[in-house]
Amino acid sequence: MLQGKRILLVVAGGIAAYKSLELVRRLRERGAAVRAILTRSGAEFVTPLSLSALTEDKVYSELFDLTDEQEMGHIQLSRDADLLVVAPATADLLAKMAHGRADDLASTALLATDKPVLAAPAMNVRMWEHPATQANLETLKQRGILFTGPNEGAMACGEFGPGRMAEPAEILAAIETALAASSRLAGRRVLVTSGPTHEAIDPVRYIANRSSGKQGHAIARALAGLGAETHLVTGPVALPDPPGVSVTHVESAEEMLAACRALLPVEAAVCAAAVADWKVESRAGEKLKKDGSAAPALVLAPNPDILASLSEAGNQRPSLVVGFAAETQSLIENAKAKLARKGCDWILANDVAPASGTFGGEENEIHLVSAQGVEDWPRMSKEAVARRLAERIADHFEGGKAA
Ligand code: CTP
Repeated sequence: MLQGKRILLVVAGGIAAYKSLELVRRLRERGAAVRAILTRSGAEFVTPLSLSALTEDKVYSELFDLTDEQEMGHIQLSRDADLLVVAPATADLLAKMAHGRADDLASTALLATDKPVLAAPAMNVRMWEHPATQANLETLKQRGILFTGPNEGAMACGEFGPGRMAEPAEILAAIETALAASSRLAGRRVLVTSGPTHEAIDPVRYIANRSSGKQGHAIARALAGLGAETHLVTGPVALPDPPGVSVTHVESAEEMLAACRALLPVEAAVCAAAVADWKVESRAGEKLKKDGSAAPALVLAPNPDILASLSEAGNQRPSLVVGFAAETQSLIENAKAKLARKGCDWILANDVAPASGTFGGEENEIHLVSAQGVEDWPRMSKEAVARRLAERIADHFEGGKAA
């Protein structure tokens, strides 16, 4: 199962670090290659020598160790792995991860990676239960970091409660699950559209909408997290490019359609962009001047419908095309009509009536509408919607559950 898999293990400073040695032994027994980063405080609990003997590799610890950087830069180190495992994950390291700090090799590798990360927290019960740690945990979960443990029990500090690192066998099982999940869509090429489009009025002005791109970017991240070769075509947004995703930046609907077509063939397309329905036909080549005459009238013309266009039958049609429908009334009825009109396979219908609190919020309540019927999802964060959609797409390709 783990034959040929590459694990980058980060060992931070906690008494549970001794269990990580056992974890390395078990991983090696199952055929995984393990590289280890030992933090400075981690080295207070286990020696580089024991880690190195078990991994049969050198142990990495210093960010600015020139030999390390010459042999292998920290970026390379974090990308040359199939999975990063942080065990033990201390309160301090979780805080660094949540806040994007990179002041040593371990935190830098964790910030630089585009691979899945599994953390096994270990700390004193009060540190674990502290709102700061719980908030960091929530942030990291939202970003897709996986967790195993902690377990409840007597602790080295003499207290009792949750905080003990999961046992090596439990971490091993979580590693196997994470690796299996991270390759569910391996070898599949997928396309996601995201963000608003900008339709130029003249060289400096445009018509836009309030789409943040959060949902579309989260979907691209989730698909890449399952191993898909993910291509994101995005209108202008204030979000960073998701790691491990190839990103094409566009402005107008026409550019978005051209970029999507250039990426075909793909097996699945998810249209999450809020594409402007209209472009400015009277677009001026020079900046419009207020020269005393009447205000200019904008002449609009319809934009291409990217979702409908990708759904058109033909040998380049993705085998699964997914669109969104934001409705304020008759949600399911309108979504079904939209499914038929656009010719796509699934519509994720979303109630955006003011009372639902969805619009502009962090959460979505989705109904997956397809020819097979309607699947109601519970209210969840946009990140969770993205992960659930990616899993459903994987189910679809595995011929499992129909929508
Ligand atoms: N879409 C698209 N290209 C467009 C317009 C929409 O790809 N030019 C896609 C969106 O990405 C989304 C779905 O179509 O997946 C939304 O359809 P749309 O017809 O825009 O629905 P609403 O915005 O809900 O508007 P309306 O109800 O007025 O049809």
